[in-house]
Amino acid sequence: MTRPAAFVRSVPDSFAGALTGVSPAPDIDVVHAREQHRRYIACLEQGGFDVEILDTPADFPDGPFIEDTAVYLSGTLVLTRPGAPSRRGEVFGVGEALAERAVLRSIEPPGTLEGGDVLRVGGRLYVGLSSRTNDEGLRQLTVIAARQGIETVAVPVRNALHLKSVATAVDGETLVAAPGHFDRDVFAGLRTLWVDGQNEVNVLNLPDGRVLIPASKTLLQEIVTGAGYRVLTVDVSEFENADGGLTCLSLRANDG
Ligand code: GLY
Repeated sequence: MTRPAAFVRSVPDSFAGALTGVSPAPDIDVVHAREQHRRYIACLEQGGFDVEILDTPADFPDGPFIEDTAVYLSGTLVLTRPGAPSRRGEVFGVGEALAERAVLRSIEPPGTLEGGDVLRVGGRLYVGLSSRTNDEGLRQLTVIAARQGIETVAVPVRNALHLKSVATAVDGETLVAAPGHFDRDVFAGLRTLWVDGQNEVNVLNLPDGRVLIPASKTLLQEIVTGAGYRVLTVDVSEFENADGGLTCLSLRANDG
């Protein structure tokens, strides 16, 4: 069986200057981040992805968070327009690298959209309306997705960077989610494993059925294991210090 592709982006020296919402954030150790990135890539490969590494230009500290730059919808790649102005330039290189492999579409001004706000589960796209993704970005994505018969559902998000900071899929019909960041009814029809007491619940479901969870999130590991899933863990503390999670670090062709 063909292994789905996952694209990651290298960790530049400038990663120490990545955006953070927490002040003062712990200093980022770029050498340690690169080591953690290598282990993250190894987990993706062990879990069934074919990983390809794209280069991050030096002037994009947040470049490793490649998920925010594009959304895969089968053979279409929607290039985003990040709500963070310093991140908008990241998109061009990703579009250039993947132009031969997908039909490219773009979110245009005044729309903003970051891939961290786009959660595909149960055949739908749940789109977080956050400080990074606005109504117009959602509207444009809705038009593009509708051409492929994919429905979008708006999810206003409170007190979190992205929707996928606080809700991610463990399989095609089950989510893990932290309460208090969005209206609970929005995911009606899906099974939700609520994780009370842990703000970040960003997990990555691997093609082999295992669920990749950050080493720091022990409560999350317990809940997902307790629900019968096989769990793999990886330490991504340097990326967590830059407000990033596991899904942010790759753009996966099987998400759409
Ligand atoms: N550092 C991740 C972000 O703020 O976009």
